[in-house]
Amino acid sequence: MQLIRSVKKMQNLSLKLKRKGKKIGFVPTMGFLHEGHLSLVERCRKDCDILVVSIFVNPTQFGPREDYKSYPRDLKRDIKLCKKYNVDIIFYPDVKDMYPEGFETYVELEKLPNHLCGLSRPGHFRGVATVVTKLFNIVQPDVAYFGEKDWQQLKIIEKLVRDLNFPIRIKSGKIIRERDGLAMSSRNKYLSEKERKEAICLYKSLLFAKELIEKGERDVSKIKRKMRELILKIAPKAKVDYIEIVDPETLESLSRIKERNLVALAVKIGVARLIDNMLIKVKLTKEI
Ligand code: PAJ
Repeated sequence: MQLIRSVKKMQNLSLKLKRKGKKIGFVPTMGFLHEGHLSLVERCRKDCDILVVSIFVNPTQFGPREDYKSYPRDLKRDIKLCKKYNVDIIFYPDVKDMYPEGFETYVELEKLPNHLCGLSRPGHFRGVATVVTKLFNIVQPDVAYFGEKDWQQLKIIEKLVRDLNFPIRIKSGKIIRERDGLAMSSRNKYLSEKERKEAICLYKSLLFAKELIEKGERDVSKIKRKMRELILKIAPKAKVDYIEIVDPETLESLSRIKERNLVALAVKIGVARLIDNMLIKVKLTKEI
């Protein structure tokens, strides 16, 4: 396994590998790897000749009052895990190499960021789209893997690749959860023991929404209200950032349940802002 810190070195190596006809697979991450990341790594290993994982806590996607400084980092542990999963190259660039003095070019989408997390995290997806564009140009992957845990991010990357004609295939991976259903996240580390137990409220509320929809409920505001009540019953101090039911592709809010619905939410438990979502498909026959 190679560890590469220099942007130039990484790009030169990728160009060389491509000239040799190698298929490069890429899993971009911010490190502090867990089974969610590793499920993408495993898939990539099966599909590609060369597996590149990037580890870069990207400052431009954090707001001024967000957790950039305290975001969990453990490169030693990440290196061990990558070795275990047969990663070929870890790319872990320096902030100054990615954003040298005078950097001024950003990538921004017009519509997709105006929903869900984009509303409470202004500038977040501009940072994500910019860093992913840069990483794509540096790593030159044929295929790149993103998790459905960050559904809005996945849709934004798919759109970015289409709009800007990147010759890259985007593959998505299912949400990997802890035994009790909590979606794995590097930010779960912020939770105290009590908060960890309460954090299950996100998944429980998604299951509750699924149950309501399957029983025939079609009124989105009713479902959202009931989800909020359940969250606050399990975690009375939780701060609900949003609960939304949206079209899974456009991310536009729905008022009635359709055939394909994305139920998504963000909840702050203590200092941890947690997100989760569930795609719920229904055959629209039963109405109440
Ligand atoms: P990070 O949060 O480290 O996540 C890296 C990848 O792992 C993302 O595609 C994310 O959706 C996926 N992932 C995280 N938790 C998951 C889970 N429980 N199940 C399945 N997949 C999961 O997302 C980012 O980093 C950054 O925004 C990045 C794309 C690297 C740009 O900086």
